[in-house]
Amino acid sequence: MKRILILGATGSIGTSACDVVRTHPSDFRIAGLAVRSNREKAEALGREFGAPVFCGENAAVRAVAETDADLVLVSTVGLSGLAPTLAAIERGVDVALATKEVMVAAGELVCARAEAKGVKILPVDSEHSAIFQCMQAGDAGWRGRRDVSKLILTASGGPFLDAPADLSSVTPEQALNHPRWKMGPKVTVDSSTMMNKGFEILEARWLFDVPVERIDVVVHPESVVHSLVEFADGATLAQLSPPDMRVPIQYAFSWPERLPAERAQLNLASLSSLTFRAPDETRFPALRLVKEAARAGGTKTAVLSAADEVAVARFLAGEIRYTDIVRLVAAAVDAAPDLPCDSLENILAADAAGRKLAKEWNS
Ligand SMILES: NC(=O)c1ccc[n+]([C@@H]2O[C@H](COP(=O)([O-])OP(=O)(O)OC[C@H]3O[C@@H](n4cnc5c(N)ncnc54)[C@H](OP(=O)(O)O)[C@@H]3O)[C@@H](O)[C@H]2O)c1
Repeated sequence: MKRILILGATGSIGTSACDVVRTHPSDFRIAGLAVRSNREKAEALGREFGAPVFCGENAAVRAVAETDADLVLVSTVGLSGLAPTLAAIERGVDVALATKEVMVAAGELVCARAEAKGVKILPVDSEHSAIFQCMQAGDAGWRGRRDVSKLILTASGGPFLDAPADLSSVTPEQALNHPRWKMGPKVTVDSSTMMNKGFEILEARWLFDVPVERIDVVVHPESVVHSLVEFADGATLAQLSPPDMRVPIQYAFSWPERLPAERAQLNLASLSSLTFRAPDETRFPALRLVKEAARAGGTKTAVLSAADEVAVARFLAGEIRYTDIVRLVAAAVDAAPDLPCDSLENILAADAAGRKLAKEWNS
């Protein structure tokens, strides 16, 4: 019986995680739940699972400190996931990580601390879970493998893949209409700009200890192949499943085992085709921007993540145009000072600088 603490229990990932636990009552128990404001729903879940409930801005860190768990699922939004992730590592508790901004902003710091404490960071994001599953081939582990030549992240391409070239008049409603996945608003807008895929490059860089130069993105609109690993001997392994976040969540919970679940399975014969194409970095400049920030290193990617959060909020509030999102983020990354990514203080300072620049930015 694995005791799981769920941070962000009322969100899209948290809700799927609760469902995974419901399906496997003799394998998993929810030890605690943390949310920010949705107290009513959290308390209903707390009653259902017999788990303590933590609410408020610091709920996640308190929950980690006060709950005995074997695994912490971090699925809050943005940098709010960082302090509880570090707290779980400090307690020596393994982390199932959905909140990609933690690795985007502070991957170097998080991985250094996890390694020092012998704590595992297990991927939840579907692409990273796919890579993680492919890495189970052989017994060389999943970080810094010498027999891996490339990681290949698939991208659905979002709602504007084949839209007319000028995206400046895209509305929030259009950006929130993802063709394949039902997710929270921030990650849905990030998917449409491909900033999300850029973040996933950084997430993969740190989770698997592979330099960004060896991480490729390929557009795959059917979202059936969730990602691939190219090995040094010329073999490429892929993971395929229907687009259902309960699959990677459950794998993070059950790893290294696989548990049965009555879910829709892939029917390969009914798929007419699986298509792949190179991403258009001119229409979606976010990918290039993220790789440049990664190469600059230090806290530049923390600035990037913070500025993007503000930019998406400003777009959803009607303050800036869709195409301003990446322009704003690029300007913030360029203007912010770079600090070493070796302390929570530096990450928070970079985050604050990114937010300030993003709030003040005008087209
Ligand atoms: N959704 C997906 O399919 C998906 C896939 C891959 C990765 N991810 C990543 O997973 C993370 C969560 O995404 P989501 O779509 O589940 O987001 P979401 O639906 O917006 O849910 C966020 C959850 O986090 C809670 N929360 C926010 N700030 C908090 C804080 N300071 N302390 C405690 N709880 C807090 C919210 O509580 P309240 O309800 O009380 O506000 C809510 O339960 C994101 O980083 C996203 O990029 C999501």
